[in-house]
Amino acid sequence: MTGERLLGHRLHVNMDELKRQAAARALEHVRDGMKLGLGTGSTAKHFVELLGERVRAGLNVVGVPTSEATRIDAIRCGIPLTTLDDIDRLDLTVDGADEIDPALNLIKGGGGALLREKIVAAASDRMIVIADDSKWVADLGRFPLPVEVIPFGLAATQHAIGKAFAESGNSGQMVVRTGKDGHVFVTDGGHWIVDAHLGRIADAPRLAGLLAVIPGVVDHGLFIGLAGMAILAGSQGIRVVERP
Ligand code: A5P
Repeated sequence: MTGERLLGHRLHVNMDELKRQAAARALEHVRDGMKLGLGTGSTAKHFVELLGERVRAGLNVVGVPTSEATRIDAIRCGIPLTTLDDIDRLDLTVDGADEIDPALNLIKGGGGALLREKIVAAASDRMIVIADDSKWVADLGRFPLPVEVIPFGLAATQHAIGKAFAESGNSGQMVVRTGKDGHVFVTDGGHWIVDAHLGRIADAPRLAGLLAVIPGVVDHGLFIGLAGMAILAGSQGIRVVERP
């Protein structure tokens, strides 16, 4: 390995260790008998694995996964699963995020699971977001905002999204997400994602409301007022932030 690649490898390993530490801290909030929302992404995957260890040691919980990927991980880890067709409320959801601001508003959906993630978070009494501290930002928006859309009428929907941006004081380029194979990325729900490069989002709650009422928009990656606690792991230790 070259020096540069070795450094990159070490940074990746350290970042992964921080994600696991945040996940381990979130596990302390899990109680026997809880119904849990299981998030998606590399940080949430650590939580699922650590939860699986506790389940195999006798903890009695049931989980609702937020993606097919998490469903597979949870089954592999031995976590009993249910759905929001069979139960209508959850005690706690633990999930990662792409950005977290001081009001604990989030950008999510980098992994494409935003719709199920938001349905599960909204059905939960509490949401704890777990992350390495690089996700903590003063203002949301450097991470492109995912907007999940119906493929039908894409140009018209993008036009309406552009109007919502302008009305809320935002602007930026929109790019239809593609997968590693170069084809359009399709979500678990069969929709497409438009990633909006806004730089810094002005008035995220207002933008969230404007996007939500566009007919071709299924959902967007702004999670406003859903997370009650953020657990952020950094080189100096773990910081727990509760929503003001
Ligand atoms: C999945 O759609 C996302 O919302 C993830 O929660 C988010 O992208 C964070 O993923 P990582 O934990 O892999 O950074």
